[in-house]
Amino acid sequence: MAISKKTEDFMTKASFIRKMFEEGIRMRAEVGAENVFDFSLGNPILEPPQEFQKALRDLVNQPAAGLHRYMANSGYPEVRAKVAVFLAQDTGAAVSADDIIMTCGAGGGLNVALKSLLDPNDEVIVVAPYFPEYRFYIDNHGGKQVIAESAEDFNLDLDTIEQSITGHTKAIILNSPNNPTGRMYSAESLSELGDLLLRKSSQIGHPISILSDEPYRKIVYDGLKTPSIFAAYPHTILITSHSKDLGLAGERIGYAAISPEHADRKDLRGAMTFTNRTLGFVNAPALFQQAVAGVQTASVPIEIYHELRDMFCQVLSQAGLQYIKPQGAFYLFPKTPNDDDLAFVQALQKQHILVVPGRGFGRPGYIRISFCVTKKEIEGALPGFMKVMKGM
Ligand SMILES: Cc1ncc(COP(=O)(O)O)c(C=O)c1O
Repeated sequence: MAISKKTEDFMTKASFIRKMFEEGIRMRAEVGAENVFDFSLGNPILEPPQEFQKALRDLVNQPAAGLHRYMANSGYPEVRAKVAVFLAQDTGAAVSADDIIMTCGAGGGLNVALKSLLDPNDEVIVVAPYFPEYRFYIDNHGGKQVIAESAEDFNLDLDTIEQSITGHTKAIILNSPNNPTGRMYSAESLSELGDLLLRKSSQIGHPISILSDEPYRKIVYDGLKTPSIFAAYPHTILITSHSKDLGLAGERIGYAAISPEHADRKDLRGAMTFTNRTLGFVNAPALFQQAVAGVQTASVPIEIYHELRDMFCQVLSQAGLQYIKPQGAFYLFPKTPNDDDLAFVQALQKQHILVVPGRGFGRPGYIRISFCVTKKEIEGALPGFMKVMKGM
């Protein structure tokens, strides 16, 4: 076998979502696409907003000379300046263009930040349930993932986080609004975490950075607003993308923003610009940097996701599943009637309903449902959910 044992092992461990994807293809061929209810993928269904479409058309119709050339590895200065103005208004922090690194999505941004921070065997705390790619991103740069379970209601459990901190802790990854739970951490909870991390950072003699993974920061419901992580803690890198809020997942465009209060702000600017290059991204895509620069306040119509959330919550309630209503993102994470999430997923598959077992996100006994789908699919899945729950 030519591939490494580690990659082979990781591929096996990361197979839950891919298996569902393959199962979806098989099922569609067998029973017809209209009879398959696939809630396994978080692939945005909404098209990018008009403002973005216009910006892209203008760029293509009147391309500036040199638009497709290499540039500074951190991105175009004028794009970073526009992002900084938006972020400063949005968070109240004095973010400057120098603090912004344009990245290939949030995935690219996380890798750039981790590569810049980690020495071999440094530890990174991840709050469970978690986005499964974190483990691989951390490993990419020689780090070790340390799991801190969240509270029963998916809020931060500060005692568990405190117990997870050692002299090797370099960072904690937060993801709010959260994939898979839809939980958004409150400003108060983030500020309590900030106090804890300040105390622990001074105890262990180096700053513990928060990597705040926020690709869903604009996708929040019920009039909520994602609190500013910069207000909660100084040593923070906010990482986000336009994959979800502008529906541009395939274009790989996002950014990392270093807090103006981060103790290592200047070193991080240089390191993250360098790692963006040496990880092989070189820079974020030129055309899409330019296209998103002027539409920072735009987003896909969130009210559509809001409606889909409410519809799916009704389906789950009718079927008798227990869940916590998501405050943001487009996922539901209900409890399975018994602890065997794999068996539950298989029972749903017999009704042509595809969801992902919670164990893929580090929390068995739950399933993850993406409601980034059509109303018709949600309505169509109700009888299947009812049938499976009756059989439990
Ligand atoms: C929590 C979380 N972080 C990061 C990403 C990666 O996003 P991007 O497409 O911006 O790389 C995703 C994508 O689904 C996600 O859910």
